[in-house]
Amino acid sequence: MMKTLPSLLLLFLFIFTSEAKSSSLSLPQPNLSFKINATHQNQGSCSYTVTIKTSCSSTKYTRDQISLSFGDAYGYQVYAPRLDDPSSRAFEKCSTDTYTINGPCTYQICYLYLYRSGYDGWKPDSVTVSGYYTRTVTFKYNTWIPGDAWYGFNYCNGGVSSDSDSKSAM
Ligand SMILES: *[C@@H]1O[C@H](CO)[C@@H](O)[C@H](O)[C@H]1NC(C)=O
Ligand SMILES: *[C@@H]1O[C@H](CO)[C@@H](O)[C@H](O)[C@H]1NC(C)=O
Repeated sequence: MMKTLPSLLLLFLFIFTSEAKSSSLSLPQPNLSFKINATHQNQGSCSYTVTIKTSCSSTKYTRDQISLSFGDAYGYQVYAPRLDDPSSRAFEKCSTDTYTINGPCTYQICYLYLYRSGYDGWKPDSVTVSGYYTRTVTFKYNTWIPGDAWYGFNYCNGGVSSDSDSKSAM
């Protein structure tokens, strides 16, 4: 028992570190500590174009409540509550929905989370955000969004988010 412990630990570390590397690049994760920062949602006036593609293997339609948040490494965050609208056929299987969202001006967007609540389920394919100060970024989901959790990607400290621009902006 005692002898296997260190090697188990190593194995665990190995799995953990290799997973942290690859999964932060490709797989969405729940973020239980993610918080909407309400203090400056209405400050600034930048406009973003958000394109959400729904997977062709999603439910035919969804009545779930769907919200979105994204931002940069410096605390500037955009929050778009309740994008869902079944009457406009939003988020139906195989559909592409485009929104213009206003919010604070951000540097390079390096995280994006979706929040879903309801019983129909929803499987987005990808979310693409473009804006004036940020390079266009696409977050590839291709997976069912679990209920009642912020679920997505955070590359802010990982180095994927590109960075010479945003760093020199500090
Ligand atoms: C979750 O979101 C917070 C910001 O609200 C961030 O500081 C933290 O790094 C995120 N966690 C993960 C695992 O990305
Ligand atoms: C919300 O944003 C403001 C301005 O960037 C920042 O000072 C504050 O710490 C943020 N609050 C939280 C809870 O992240």
